[in-house]
Amino acid sequence: GLPTHVRIHEVGPRDGLQNEKTVVPVEVKAEFIRRLAAAGLSTVETTSFVHPKWVPQLADAEQLVPMLDGVEARLPVLVPNRRGLERALALGVREIAVFGSVTESFAKANLNRTVDESLEMFAPVVAEAKEAGLRVRGYLSMCFGDPWEGAVPIARTVDVSRRLLGLGCDELSLGDTIGVATPGHVTALLAALGEAGVGAERLAVHFHDTYGQALANTLAALRHGVTTVDASAGGLGGCPYAKSATGNLATEDLVWMLDGLGITTGVDLGRLTATSVWMAGHLGRPSPSRTVRALSHQ
Ligand code: HMG
Ligand code: MG
Repeated sequence: GLPTHVRIHEVGPRDGLQNEKTVVPVEVKAEFIRRLAAAGLSTVETTSFVHPKWVPQLADAEQLVPMLDGVEARLPVLVPNRRGLERALALGVREIAVFGSVTESFAKANLNRTVDESLEMFAPVVAEAKEAGLRVRGYLSMCFGDPWEGAVPIARTVDVSRRLLGLGCDELSLGDTIGVATPGHVTALLAALGEAGVGAERLAVHFHDTYGQALANTLAALRHGVTTVDASAGGLGGCPYAKSATGNLATEDLVWMLDGLGITTGVDLGRLTATSVWMAGHLGRPSPSRTVRALSHQ
């Protein structure tokens, strides 16, 4: 069966914008987030407290977060280490995400660490965040395939998933960073995680749409009991440290499918589409989302 409600974890302002070459003004970012919340998105991932040289687009995190006072949504931020957690706590952030990798190649490229070293880096971050009453998500990249290493064995993804959750994360988001997964692979991974004691209620799925499989993969995950789905308004996105990572599953494409299935999300598709069209104007190119294009005649 399918769930009756899905929580969309909107990642546009973070995953969507982090790959943009031209720095988007902080006022535009704040307006983007306010509009996404006003369109009914209950979770809007805001920014990352990472090294500003690694992701220059998000170097304005200290300016952005205080501009969001009064926004009625959960506003998580990415935090890789203690320095990032200190910065987030100083601004009163209530929800963070650490982000690991199944593969050594991406752990090195994205975090300058081995898989083991990155888990060691996250352990005190998760512990301190939980102690401070924060909600903590664990992201795991390259759960299906890796641009340097090729196909990723399910057993390895299950192993790193258990270790990351074991640090005390409330939720684990399974990332198909380069968009190579197909529905059979998704079903097999979720089944293997279930056998290893990781139930769908603690999982989210994070699909990039490189090969046009993101919606099909999402449907497979919903059938397996997953009810939290990551998506990016307008299909913006990509990861600067993974070649061949294109945009995330577009939130509008996801909402079109869920509306059609009678699954509630709380999102107003018209307001969301208008937001993506507005953002596309700022970025200077049309949205890659098929639904945005269809609804807006872009
Ligand atoms: P490093 O160079 O190993 O850092 O980078 P370090 O620990 O050796 O520290 C070096 C210097 O950086 C020190 O300063 C630190 O204070 C400073 P110094 O003493 O030399 O003056 N520093 C920081 N400054 C500000 N904020 C911080 C911070 N940390 C250290 N948080 C590091 C290690 C983790 C910092 C770096 O690799 C990094 O910032 N990586 C972030 C990469 C990133 O953001 N990638 C995109 C997000 S992941 C993604 O998109 C995938 C996802 O969407 C899921 C999917 O699709 O798969 C989530
Ligand atoms: Mg991503």
